Amino acid sequence: MKLFVSEGNPHCLKVLAALEVTGVQCSVQYVNHEEKVVPFLSRPVLPALLLPSGLHLFSSNAICRYLFEVSGQESSELCNQWLEWEATDLQPALLQALHMAVLQGKGSEVSKVLQGPLKFLDQSLTKGGKPYLNGDTVSLADLVLWAALYPVLSDSSLALGEHKSVNSWFDRVASIHSCLSAAQKVLQGKGLQGMKSYMQRQPAPQSNQCRDTQPCNSNPAEGEEGERDFSEEEMEAAALTWSKGLSTSPVVTDRQHPILPQEGKRNILVTSALPYVNNVPHLGNIIGCVLSADVFSRYGRLRDWNLLFVCGTDEYGTATENKAREEGLTPQLICDKYHAVHSSIYKWFQIDFDFFGRTTTEKQTEIAQNIFWRLHKNGFLVEDTVEQLRCENCQRFLADRFVEGICPHCKYPEARGDQCDKCGRLINAVELREPQCKVCRQTPVIRSSKHLFLDLPKLETQLEQWLEKSTSTGDWTANAKQITRSWLRDGLKPRCITRDLLWGTPVPHPDFKEKVFYVWFDAPIGYLSITANYTDKWEKWWKNPHQVELYNFMAKDNVPFHSVVFPCSLLGAQDNYTLVNHLVATEYLNYEDTKFSKSRGVGVFGDMAKDTGIPADVWRFYLLYVRPEGQDSAFSWADMALKNNSELLNNLGNFINRAGMFVAKFFEGCVPVMELQQEDKRLLALVGWELQQYIQLMDKVKIRDALKHILNISRHGNQYIQVNEPWKKIKGGDTERQRAGTVTGVSVNIACLLSVMLMPYMPAVSQTIRDQLNAPQSCVNTMLQGTGTFVCSLCAGHRIGTVSPLFQKLEADQIEALKKRFGGQQPEDEPSKEKKTPQSTASPQPAAVPATAAADEVAMVNGVDPEKAKQLTQAVAEQGDKVRALKAQKAEKAVITAEVAKLLDLKKQLALAEGKSPEPAPQKGKKK
Ligand code: 2FM
Ligand code: ZN
Repeated sequence: MKLFVSEGNPHCLKVLAALEVTGVQCSVQYVNHEEKVVPFLSRPVLPALLLPSGLHLFSSNAICRYLFEVSGQESSELCNQWLEWEATDLQPALLQALHMAVLQGKGSEVSKVLQGPLKFLDQSLTKGGKPYLNGDTVSLADLVLWAALYPVLSDSSLALGEHKSVNSWFDRVASIHSCLSAAQKVLQGKGLQGMKSYMQRQPAPQSNQCRDTQPCNSNPAEGEEGERDFSEEEMEAAALTWSKGLSTSPVVTDRQHPILPQEGKRNILVTSALPYVNNVPHLGNIIGCVLSADVFSRYGRLRDWNLLFVCGTDEYGTATENKAREEGLTPQLICDKYHAVHSSIYKWFQIDFDFFGRTTTEKQTEIAQNIFWRLHKNGFLVEDTVEQLRCENCQRFLADRFVEGICPHCKYPEARGDQCDKCGRLINAVELREPQCKVCRQTPVIRSSKHLFLDLPKLETQLEQWLEKSTSTGDWTANAKQITRSWLRDGLKPRCITRDLLWGTPVPHPDFKEKVFYVWFDAPIGYLSITANYTDKWEKWWKNPHQVELYNFMAKDNVPFHSVVFPCSLLGAQDNYTLVNHLVATEYLNYEDTKFSKSRGVGVFGDMAKDTGIPADVWRFYLLYVRPEGQDSAFSWADMALKNNSELLNNLGNFINRAGMFVAKFFEGCVPVMELQQEDKRLLALVGWELQQYIQLMDKVKIRDALKHILNISRHGNQYIQVNEPWKKIKGGDTERQRAGTVTGVSVNIACLLSVMLMPYMPAVSQTIRDQLNAPQSCVNTMLQGTGTFVCSLCAGHRIGTVSPLFQKLEADQIEALKKRFGGQQPEDEPSKEKKTPQSTASPQPAAVPATAAADEVAMVNGVDPEKAKQLTQAVAEQGDKVRALKAQKAEKAVITAEVAKLLDLKKQLALAEGKSPEPAPQKGKKK
């Protein structure tokens, strides 16, 4: 059984309390408010309980009742009646009250809304003369009502008046530990404010309406989202803001390197987990780290934060040594080669690092050794003899990632030597049951060797104090907090920081001359050394916790190293280091219904994305649309095509193109005069509201959620155009023509706003839109005002540029071919026997089949021929050069035509070899 809840959702309070009180065995998963847990419901509904039968319960009261029943406590009729009352009478009033108190700042008026239900409850308790609703003992009814009322009754500022019986009943139930602990979990000690983000996503309650339409949904998320209502004042305010235009906006200044913290600015340091140098990142790696960090950094720059974004390759360790052996190169050459591969992939994806460095530098040695000596001097290193796994067959000590075995904690059979992917616990390799060398599958032997350990237990108190502060003031994702908590709960143990390897930062201690630092001690220091390679003044970022806010982006398996181990290194060094304030961890991205696997040729890897013909911005869009925020998600070709065709082409692209085309066609390319009517002002208020939601979510690094608000705006825009039909009105009389002008002018301004909001997500498309609209540079400043304001940035008379479609349809056959190409299916008649041996499929880096070869071996699947495609790509490039050269030389037309024909033929062959339809028009709207 699994219970899905979200933080700050008041409906989750009662189910968590019921779970704790009943003690029913059930795992709890915290997800995002907008997570669709119950597959067949049209909208996200939380809490939800997944039953052992695979069915779901998704009404909070039904879940509570079920938990009580499972624990052997049937609910009485009286109890059920209270539950009904709670759902039908109390909830609507509560929702309205919470909306007023949390979102409208009208706490003083809440008492009016709640008087009726509170009076009824008070009288019933007085009349019953018993301590609890159902008699002398606490029941399900007490728990449900208490939890529902907790947010308002525990907030003394709401002044709800004297309800003596209610108050003493409330205190009585509150003394049950499980109840308060559930409240703490949901509201995080933040009271009503803890519910803000949840309330913001709920449709505004219509006062008193719910009561007549019983049974009213106890969970507002289940109801249809009503049209947002705006008061006259709100609409007028939106129109006034709009009319002020961009004149008052400060101008975002260009970046000047080196970027250093500045007094009076928000100084933000963004890091993305440093990718291992020895392999090519797949889409899951890209979305988890560099792409998420890039979107946030681009957004931060739009907000005019003083922001530095650094990353680089993580280059030391056995994995690199292995790769070097495989490819017959030195480790340094392997690092050079793959560092360049990573750089070019990220460049293609338009990851805008301020600096992309690497860990194999002198600065790394200098800083890592300095931290080491400080830890040593401060007494945080201990020496011990350890037993290590050594593979006699391979003649070397085995690094953690190169051993696999059964997890000693949860018995997962494929646990790695450093961590179990199933239960997430860190492991010492020798604790693994039935260990195997991952390279040759032999059983390793245990050997003794002297090592140094970071004394985590000695740093535990300091760490906990810091964590308490950082997690409560910063934006840590729920998984990051939970993984950290569970790691602390298990108790900290000393962690070995040295290894018997050659390829690493040397340990400077004379007694450990032959050893290097463990990669996980070394790698995060890379953030510092990479910054030091960017600027000599790196300490202004890294030894400046009061002026700098640090955001770390990573996938969830990296969490404990960033929340526990690395902070302990820095705390123990006692050198005023900047520690992470916001730890942003994604869940995993799967590929279709399986995992990415280089060796099995499954999935799209960074270097292949560009060969699909799909523009980088579309890749970015889709990866961000399915960003595993809150729970695992999957890349799916069919879904990518669907989202491209529905959201990008039909929704966003269609709106922007129509708006621009109307200006071009009906108003000779000049933005017409706009005379706002109520309907337009309402749209301005609505767009302004979506913009504010976007900003609030982006500020909280809810990147995927924020993207949905961009798409909402273009949906509103399309609807507005559809209703107002400017293409018809333009043919009418003066008033109608005027109306067509206003609708066109408002629409093209919305298109301009969209281009700015898209900047973090689709930088090239954003630039294309701004070019097409000939938008002033200052339009990007719309994001600067505190909560975001929608202003008119293309005034009447503004001349736009040439408008053309932004996106192209992804056709079913094209997608089918790509799916086959990247699906990892082996051709039926493929003779390769190695592939069928267990080690070559199970091992990520099998000795017999080098990983690179394995990927290349996916030959001729249903007409797809990667080898041929490679040769043809080269031929197309050469022929293209030839044609360009001829054109530049102004050669004879016939000669050029003949060479162009050859080029087109080569392109056709290439498309066939790639399994694409042979006439792939290049995507428009993407400038190089
Ligand atoms: O998991 C990985 O890809 C690691 N190379 C991440 C290191 S993050 C940091 F510590 F450098
Ligand atoms: Zn081995």
